[in-house]
Amino acid sequence: MSNVLQTFIQANQPLVEHKLDILIKEIKAPKELKEAMSYSLQAGGKRIRPLYTLAVLEELNITNKDAIIVASTVEMIHTYSLIHDDLPAMDNDDLRRGKPTNHIVFGEALAILAGDALVTLAFGIIARLQHLTAEQKVQLMDQLSFAAGAEGMVGGQVLDMLGEGKSLTLDQLEEVHVNKTGALLSFSILAGGIIANASEEVMDALKKYAFHIGLAFQIQDDILDIEGTSEQLGKTAGKDVLSEKNTYPSILTLDGAREQLQKQYNLAIVALEKVSLHKGLLLEIANYITKRSN
Ligand code: IPE
Ligand code: IPE
Ligand code: MG
Ligand code: MG
Ligand code: MG
Repeated sequence: MSNVLQTFIQANQPLVEHKLDILIKEIKAPKELKEAMSYSLQAGGKRIRPLYTLAVLEELNITNKDAIIVASTVEMIHTYSLIHDDLPAMDNDDLRRGKPTNHIVFGEALAILAGDALVTLAFGIIARLQHLTAEQKVQLMDQLSFAAGAEGMVGGQVLDMLGEGKSLTLDQLEEVHVNKTGALLSFSILAGGIIANASEEVMDALKKYAFHIGLAFQIQDDILDIEGTSEQLGKTAGKDVLSEKNTYPSILTLDGAREQLQKQYNLAIVALEKVSLHKGLLLEIANYITKRSN
Protein backbone atom coordinates (compact mmCIF):
# COMPACT_ATOMS: atom_id res chain seq x y z
CA MET A 1 0.00 0.00 0.00
CA SER A 2 1.32 3.45 -0.91
CA ASN A 3 2.25 6.00 1.76
CA VAL A 4 -0.44 8.41 0.60
CA LEU A 5 -3.14 5.78 1.03
CA GLN A 6 -1.72 4.53 4.31
CA THR A 7 -1.70 8.04 5.75
CA PHE A 8 -5.24 8.63 4.52
CA ILE A 9 -6.52 5.39 6.07
CA GLN A 10 -4.71 5.99 9.36
CA ALA A 11 -6.28 9.42 9.62
CA ASN A 12 -9.82 8.50 8.59
CA GLN A 13 -10.51 4.94 9.71
CA PRO A 14 -10.55 5.83 13.44
CA LEU A 15 -12.97 8.69 12.70
CA VAL A 16 -15.36 6.25 11.03
CA GLU A 17 -15.05 3.76 13.93
CA HIS A 18 -15.75 6.52 16.44
CA LYS A 19 -18.72 7.93 14.52
CA LEU A 20 -20.31 4.48 14.13
CA ASP A 21 -19.96 3.94 17.87
CA ILE A 22 -21.63 7.26 18.69
CA LEU A 23 -24.45 6.83 16.17
CA ILE A 24 -25.50 3.55 17.78
CA LYS A 25 -25.03 4.78 21.36
CA GLU A 26 -27.35 7.73 20.64
CA ILE A 27 -30.41 5.69 19.69
CA LYS A 28 -33.09 4.75 22.20
CA ALA A 29 -33.77 1.07 21.64
CA PRO A 30 -33.75 -2.22 23.59
CA LYS A 31 -30.22 -2.91 24.79
CA GLU A 32 -30.25 -6.40 23.24
CA LEU A 33 -30.93 -4.84 19.83
CA LYS A 34 -28.23 -2.19 20.26
CA GLU A 35 -25.78 -4.90 21.30
CA ALA A 36 -26.55 -6.96 18.20
CA MET A 37 -26.18 -3.89 15.96
CA SER A 38 -22.90 -2.83 17.58
CA TYR A 39 -21.51 -6.34 17.56
CA SER A 40 -21.34 -6.55 13.77
CA LEU A 41 -20.66 -2.87 13.22
CA GLN A 42 -17.73 -2.82 15.64
CA ALA A 43 -16.25 -6.13 14.48
CA GLY A 44 -13.75 -4.38 12.23
CA GLY A 45 -13.87 -4.74 8.48
CA LYS A 46 -11.88 -2.79 5.96
CA ARG A 47 -14.31 0.18 5.93
CA ILE A 48 -13.61 0.58 2.23
CA ARG A 49 -17.01 2.17 1.50
CA PRO A 50 -16.84 5.00 4.06
CA LEU A 51 -13.21 5.55 3.11
CA TYR A 52 -14.26 5.94 -0.51
CA THR A 53 -16.82 8.64 0.32
CA LEU A 54 -14.18 10.56 2.27
CA ALA A 55 -11.50 9.98 -0.38
CA VAL A 56 -13.67 11.50 -3.12
CA LEU A 57 -14.15 14.63 -1.01
CA GLU A 58 -10.44 14.83 -0.34
CA GLU A 59 -9.70 14.45 -4.05
CA LEU A 60 -12.12 17.27 -4.83
CA ASN A 61 -10.65 19.41 -2.04
CA ILE A 62 -13.97 19.82 -0.25
CA THR A 63 -14.71 19.45 3.44
CA ASN A 64 -18.15 19.01 4.96
CA LYS A 65 -18.94 18.13 8.57
CA ASP A 66 -21.66 15.69 7.48
CA ALA A 67 -19.36 13.68 5.22
CA ILE A 68 -18.21 11.36 8.00
CA ILE A 69 -21.83 10.68 8.96
CA VAL A 70 -22.89 9.88 5.40
CA ALA A 71 -19.81 7.65 5.13
CA SER A 72 -20.89 5.83 8.31
CA THR A 73 -24.43 5.26 7.05
CA VAL A 74 -23.06 3.40 4.02
CA GLU A 75 -21.14 1.14 6.40
CA MET A 76 -24.38 0.52 8.34
CA ILE A 77 -26.15 -0.64 5.21
CA HIS A 78 -23.16 -2.75 4.17
CA THR A 79 -23.03 -4.35 7.63
CA TYR A 80 -26.75 -5.10 7.52
CA SER A 81 -26.23 -6.78 4.14
CA LEU A 82 -23.49 -8.97 5.65
CA ILE A 83 -25.60 -9.96 8.69
CA HIS A 84 -28.40 -11.08 6.39
CA ASP A 85 -26.02 -12.63 3.82
CA ASP A 86 -24.66 -14.90 6.58
CA LEU A 87 -28.07 -16.16 7.77
CA PRO A 88 -28.83 -19.89 7.43
CA ALA A 89 -31.47 -19.06 4.81
CA MET A 90 -28.81 -17.35 2.70
CA ASP A 91 -25.08 -18.24 2.71
CA ASN A 92 -25.26 -19.93 6.11
CA ASP A 93 -21.91 -18.72 7.41
CA ASP A 94 -20.72 -18.82 10.99
CA LEU A 95 -17.61 -16.62 10.73
CA ARG A 96 -17.52 -12.93 9.77
CA ARG A 97 -14.88 -10.29 10.35
CA GLY A 98 -12.98 -12.85 12.40
CA LYS A 99 -15.85 -13.43 14.82
CA PRO A 100 -18.90 -15.71 15.05
CA THR A 101 -21.66 -14.33 12.83
CA ASN A 102 -24.46 -12.25 14.30
CA HIS A 103 -27.07 -15.02 14.27
CA ILE A 104 -24.67 -17.45 15.95
CA VAL A 105 -24.27 -15.04 18.88
CA PHE A 106 -27.71 -13.41 19.10
CA GLY A 107 -29.99 -15.91 17.32
CA GLU A 108 -31.64 -15.57 13.94
CA ALA A 109 -34.53 -13.34 14.99
CA LEU A 110 -32.33 -10.69 16.56
CA ALA A 111 -29.87 -10.89 13.66
CA ILE A 112 -32.68 -10.20 11.18
CA LEU A 113 -33.97 -7.34 13.32
CA ALA A 114 -30.51 -5.84 13.87
CA GLY A 115 -30.13 -5.77 10.07
CA ASP A 116 -33.56 -4.17 9.66
CA ALA A 117 -32.69 -1.57 12.29
CA LEU A 118 -29.35 -0.69 10.66
CA VAL A 119 -30.83 -0.09 7.24
CA THR A 120 -33.69 2.06 8.49
CA LEU A 121 -31.44 3.99 10.87
CA ALA A 122 -29.14 4.91 7.98
CA PHE A 123 -31.92 6.72 6.10
CA GLY A 124 -33.13 8.55 9.21
CA ILE A 125 -29.63 9.79 9.94
CA ILE A 126 -29.26 11.23 6.44
CA ALA A 127 -32.67 12.96 6.73
CA ARG A 128 -31.51 14.75 9.89
CA LEU A 129 -28.13 16.03 8.64
CA GLN A 130 -27.37 19.71 9.31
CA HIS A 131 -24.70 20.68 6.80
CA LEU A 132 -26.25 19.57 3.54
CA THR A 133 -29.12 21.12 1.60
CA ALA A 134 -32.51 19.40 1.51
CA GLU A 135 -31.86 18.71 -2.16
CA GLN A 136 -28.55 16.99 -1.44
CA LYS A 137 -30.14 14.87 1.28
CA VAL A 138 -32.99 13.76 -0.99
CA GLN A 139 -30.46 12.93 -3.70
CA LEU A 140 -28.41 10.85 -1.24
CA MET A 141 -31.48 9.00 0.04
CA ASP A 142 -32.79 8.41 -3.48
CA GLN A 143 -29.50 6.97 -4.71
CA LEU A 144 -28.91 4.98 -1.55
CA SER A 145 -32.34 3.37 -1.77
CA PHE A 146 -31.65 2.54 -5.42
CA ALA A 147 -28.20 1.07 -4.65
CA ALA A 148 -29.27 -0.93 -1.61
CA GLY A 149 -32.65 -2.14 -2.81
CA ALA A 150 -34.38 -4.26 -5.44
CA GLU A 151 -32.58 -2.54 -8.31
CA GLY A 152 -29.21 -2.89 -6.57
CA MET A 153 -27.89 -5.00 -3.70
CA VAL A 154 -31.08 -6.84 -2.74
CA GLY A 155 -31.85 -7.64 -6.38
CA GLY A 156 -28.28 -8.90 -6.82
CA GLN A 157 -28.54 -11.12 -3.76
CA VAL A 158 -31.70 -12.66 -5.23
CA LEU A 159 -29.94 -13.38 -8.55
CA ASP A 160 -26.95 -14.80 -6.63
CA MET A 161 -29.25 -17.14 -4.72
CA LEU A 162 -31.29 -18.21 -7.75
CA GLY A 163 -28.05 -18.98 -9.61
CA GLU A 164 -26.85 -21.54 -7.04
CA GLY A 165 -26.39 -24.95 -8.64
CA LYS A 166 -27.00 -23.57 -12.14
CA SER A 167 -24.47 -22.30 -14.62
CA LEU A 168 -24.82 -18.65 -15.53
CA THR A 169 -23.28 -16.96 -18.57
CA LEU A 170 -20.56 -14.40 -17.93
CA ASP A 171 -23.01 -11.60 -18.76
CA GLN A 172 -25.49 -12.94 -16.22
CA LEU A 173 -22.77 -13.23 -13.58
CA GLU A 174 -21.62 -9.69 -14.29
CA GLU A 175 -25.18 -8.55 -13.61
CA VAL A 176 -25.18 -10.40 -10.26
CA HIS A 177 -21.89 -8.83 -9.21
CA VAL A 178 -22.70 -5.33 -10.43
CA ASN A 179 -25.90 -5.43 -8.39
CA LYS A 180 -25.01 -7.36 -5.23
CA THR A 181 -21.72 -5.57 -4.61
CA GLY A 182 -21.09 -2.90 -7.24
CA ALA A 183 -24.22 -0.87 -6.52
CA LEU A 184 -23.49 -0.02 -2.87
CA LEU A 185 -19.77 0.41 -3.45
CA SER A 186 -20.63 2.78 -6.32
CA PHE A 187 -22.97 4.71 -4.07
CA SER A 188 -20.20 5.24 -1.55
CA ILE A 189 -18.13 6.88 -4.29
CA LEU A 190 -20.96 8.94 -5.79
CA ALA A 191 -22.01 10.12 -2.32
CA GLY A 192 -18.70 12.00 -2.12
CA GLY A 193 -19.56 13.73 -5.39
CA ILE A 194 -23.05 14.64 -4.20
CA ILE A 195 -21.73 16.10 -0.94
CA ALA A 196 -19.08 18.07 -2.87
CA ASN A 197 -21.63 19.35 -5.41
CA ALA A 198 -19.36 17.98 -8.12
CA SER A 199 -19.88 18.97 -11.75
CA GLU A 200 -21.69 16.70 -14.17
CA GLU A 201 -18.39 15.91 -15.84
CA VAL A 202 -16.83 14.76 -12.56
CA MET A 203 -19.95 12.79 -11.62
CA ASP A 204 -19.85 10.97 -14.97
CA ALA A 205 -16.21 10.04 -14.48
CA LEU A 206 -16.89 8.88 -10.91
CA LYS A 207 -19.83 6.78 -12.12
CA LYS A 208 -17.68 5.00 -14.70
CA TYR A 209 -14.84 4.47 -12.24
CA ALA A 210 -17.29 3.19 -9.62
CA PHE A 211 -18.98 0.75 -11.98
CA HIS A 212 -15.71 -0.94 -12.93
CA ILE A 213 -14.13 -0.89 -9.49
CA GLY A 214 -17.33 -2.28 -7.93
CA LEU A 215 -17.16 -5.23 -10.28
CA ALA A 216 -13.41 -5.61 -9.69
CA PHE A 217 -14.05 -5.69 -5.93
CA GLN A 218 -16.37 -8.69 -6.19
CA ILE A 219 -14.11 -10.50 -8.69
CA GLN A 220 -11.31 -10.25 -6.13
CA ASP A 221 -13.74 -11.45 -3.41
CA ASP A 222 -14.43 -14.53 -5.57
CA ILE A 223 -10.70 -15.12 -6.11
CA LEU A 224 -9.95 -14.76 -2.40
CA ASP A 225 -12.70 -17.25 -1.52
CA ILE A 226 -10.53 -19.82 -3.34
CA GLU A 227 -7.02 -18.57 -2.63
CA GLY A 228 -7.40 -17.18 0.89
CA THR A 229 -7.57 -18.91 4.25
CA SER A 230 -10.43 -18.40 6.70
CA GLU A 231 -7.96 -16.86 9.15
CA GLN A 232 -6.72 -14.34 6.62
CA LEU A 233 -10.23 -13.47 5.35
CA GLY A 234 -12.01 -13.47 8.73
CA LYS A 235 -14.77 -15.47 7.01
CA THR A 236 -14.98 -19.10 5.92
CA ALA A 237 -12.88 -19.65 2.81
CA GLY A 238 -13.96 -22.07 0.10
CA LYS A 239 -17.68 -21.52 0.63
CA ASP A 240 -18.50 -20.60 -2.98
CA VAL A 241 -17.55 -24.00 -4.41
CA LEU A 242 -19.40 -25.79 -1.59
CA SER A 243 -22.54 -23.73 -2.23
CA GLU A 244 -22.23 -24.16 -6.01
CA LYS A 245 -22.13 -20.40 -6.49
CA ASN A 246 -21.41 -18.86 -9.84
CA THR A 247 -18.19 -16.91 -9.54
CA TYR A 248 -15.61 -15.50 -11.96
CA PRO A 249 -13.20 -18.38 -11.22
CA SER A 250 -15.98 -20.99 -11.56
CA ILE A 251 -16.82 -19.73 -15.05
CA LEU A 252 -13.39 -18.58 -16.27
CA THR A 253 -10.82 -20.40 -14.06
CA LEU A 254 -8.60 -18.45 -11.68
CA ASP A 255 -6.41 -17.11 -14.48
CA GLY A 256 -9.44 -15.96 -16.45
CA ALA A 257 -10.83 -14.26 -13.35
CA ARG A 258 -7.52 -12.46 -12.81
CA GLU A 259 -7.62 -11.26 -16.40
CA GLN A 260 -11.12 -9.86 -15.91
CA LEU A 261 -10.01 -8.20 -12.68
CA GLN A 262 -7.18 -6.48 -14.54
CA LYS A 263 -9.56 -5.46 -17.34
CA GLN A 264 -12.03 -3.87 -14.92
CA TYR A 265 -9.18 -2.14 -13.05
CA ASN A 266 -7.88 -0.67 -16.33
CA LEU A 267 -11.33 0.60 -17.31
CA ALA A 268 -11.73 2.20 -13.88
CA ILE A 269 -8.41 4.00 -14.18
CA VAL A 270 -9.14 5.24 -17.71
CA ALA A 271 -12.34 6.85 -16.38
CA LEU A 272 -10.26 8.91 -13.95
CA GLU A 273 -8.12 10.42 -16.70
CA LYS A 274 -10.90 12.83 -17.59
CA VAL A 275 -10.94 14.65 -14.26
CA SER A 276 -8.29 16.46 -12.29
CA LEU A 277 -7.99 15.01 -8.84
CA HIS A 278 -5.59 15.96 -6.10
CA LYS A 279 -3.70 13.17 -4.43
CA GLY A 280 -4.30 10.16 -6.60
CA LEU A 281 -6.24 8.46 -3.80
CA LEU A 282 -8.80 6.88 -6.14
CA LEU A 283 -6.01 5.31 -8.16
CA GLU A 284 -4.35 4.07 -4.97
CA ILE A 285 -7.58 2.55 -3.63
CA ALA A 286 -8.13 0.81 -6.97
CA ASN A 287 -4.59 -0.63 -6.72
CA TYR A 288 -5.30 -1.78 -3.19
CA ILE A 289 -8.61 -3.43 -4.18
CA THR A 290 -7.06 -5.50 -6.93
CA LYS A 291 -4.14 -6.61 -4.76
CA ARG A 292 -5.89 -6.97 -1.39
CA SER A 293 -5.49 -10.21 0.53
CA ASN A 294 -8.57 -9.95 2.76
C1 IPE B 1 -17.66 -8.37 1.75
O1 IPE B 1 -17.37 -7.01 1.75
C2 IPE B 1 -18.89 -8.64 0.98
C3 IPE B 1 -18.82 -8.18 -0.40
C4 IPE B 1 -19.66 -7.32 -0.87
C5 IPE B 1 -17.80 -8.71 -1.29
P1 IPE B 1 -15.99 -6.47 2.32
O2 IPE B 1 -14.88 -7.27 1.72
O3 IPE B 1 -15.95 -5.00 2.14
O4 IPE B 1 -16.12 -6.84 3.85
P2 IPE B 1 -15.62 -6.05 5.16
O5 IPE B 1 -16.52 -4.86 5.29
O6 IPE B 1 -14.20 -5.67 4.96
O7 IPE B 1 -15.82 -7.03 6.28
C1 IPE C 1 -22.03 -10.68 -0.63
O1 IPE C 1 -21.39 -11.48 -1.53
C2 IPE C 1 -22.60 -9.48 -1.19
C3 IPE C 1 -23.48 -8.83 -0.21
C4 IPE C 1 -24.40 -8.04 -0.61
C5 IPE C 1 -23.35 -9.03 1.23
P1 IPE C 1 -20.69 -12.73 -0.85
O2 IPE C 1 -21.70 -13.66 -0.28
O3 IPE C 1 -19.70 -13.27 -1.82
O4 IPE C 1 -19.89 -12.02 0.35
P2 IPE C 1 -19.03 -12.80 1.42
O5 IPE C 1 -18.00 -13.58 0.64
O6 IPE C 1 -19.96 -13.66 2.21
O7 IPE C 1 -18.40 -11.69 2.23
MG1 MG D 1 -23.69 -14.13 -0.59
MG1 MG E 1 -21.64 -14.66 1.67
MG1 MG F 1 -17.72 -13.97 -1.30
